Amino acid sequence: MALRRVIAVVAYLDVAATTRVEPRVAEVVLHWMTEDFGNAGSRTHEYGARAKKAVQQARSFIAGTVGAKTEEVIFTSGATESNNIALLGLAPHGEKSGRKHIITSAIEHKAVIEPLTHLRDERGFDVDFLEPGPSGRVSAQAVLERLRPDTLAVSLMHVNNETGVIQPVAELAEKLRATPTYLHVDAAQGYGKVPADLTAPIDLISISGHKIGAPKGVGALVTRRRGWNKVPLEPIMFGGGQERKLRPGTLAVPLIMGLYEAAKTFRENHDRWEREARALRQQILNALGTTRFRINGDPEHSVPHILNVSFDQLNAEALIVRLKDHVAIATGSACTSASYTPSHVLQAMGLDDDVAANGLRLSWFPSQAQDFDPAQIAQTIASMQPRQT
Ligand SMILES: Cc1ncc(COP(=O)(O)O)c(C=O)c1O
Repeated sequence: MALRRVIAVVAYLDVAATTRVEPRVAEVVLHWMTEDFGNAGSRTHEYGARAKKAVQQARSFIAGTVGAKTEEVIFTSGATESNNIALLGLAPHGEKSGRKHIITSAIEHKAVIEPLTHLRDERGFDVDFLEPGPSGRVSAQAVLERLRPDTLAVSLMHVNNETGVIQPVAELAEKLRATPTYLHVDAAQGYGKVPADLTAPIDLISISGHKIGAPKGVGALVTRRRGWNKVPLEPIMFGGGQERKLRPGTLAVPLIMGLYEAAKTFRENHDRWEREARALRQQILNALGTTRFRINGDPEHSVPHILNVSFDQLNAEALIVRLKDHVAIATGSACTSASYTPSHVLQAMGLDDDVAANGLRLSWFPSQAQDFDPAQIAQTIASMQPRQT
């Protein structure tokens, strides 16, 4: 009961961490749990057949959103798993062919940095972590300059989860297509939001459901063929052979159908979502106009719904505590916000430790930010910021 009341009054501005499941999506999930509850692998009855058909519809839709073929999509538990299947799954090919160089960026999510650090430290891969500079955007040129004959893969995120900066993944995809190097894109934050980028010829795309209104615990990996050639992935888990053996385990039909419904809803409402998200961004910036702040990351290349700011002489944690009864915001990615260390993303952008430790991430869907008053943030900051002399 208490929780319901808190949620009703605290405006939610942390959709980069996770989003609310909309009732329409929840109804679909419930249906596939309580009515049509078959195992998509059951071949002997109608329950199984219905589940299998539904999953194929979902697969075909998700494939269509990135211009891929139905059979090129496998369902997973989320972007972390998709990233691991992609990067660790490619490694044996690199080992067999003597191509053990991988290029990535220093602003990736831990779900890319950790598997790549593992490949470097435990399996002898050579991994370049590129730093983007203050814009927060890695240049495609910088990536191409690092290419070597033994470069197995480039892994670059689509949209950074702390700054909202969009990376040049479509441009890279076009350029890398002429080389033997595979491109993996962690699209956890960009899927559905910047749809055109992901129709570029990217070999491997990781998708997360809970950033677009699907439940937590579902996602997908797109493994796009080059002509007839499949991306040479080897499984990292073994079991019943589901999902082309790459992701064995009973398919989570209700979650997959939730992902399908959320992706459909997001696509139908995309233009309105973008317009409204941009309008709220402008309201926030107008309200902050009276305070002394800087935007971290290039606003010209940002999604409309994520804003990372640092305030002059102001501790981000203290501000979050002061605001916590009114608005839910974060310092950086949810996975690292338990520790007060400076953000690795802001540090990799070359910002000094004080700015990097005090970045505040606001992220919103206008439909999930009811009761939000940007003036409240500005007033709280004004009351905390030392007066300008
Ligand atoms: C860029 C990025 N990659 C990966 C993930 C992990 O996604 P999931 O929670 O679906 O495993 C996140 C989640 O915050 C993210 O922002």
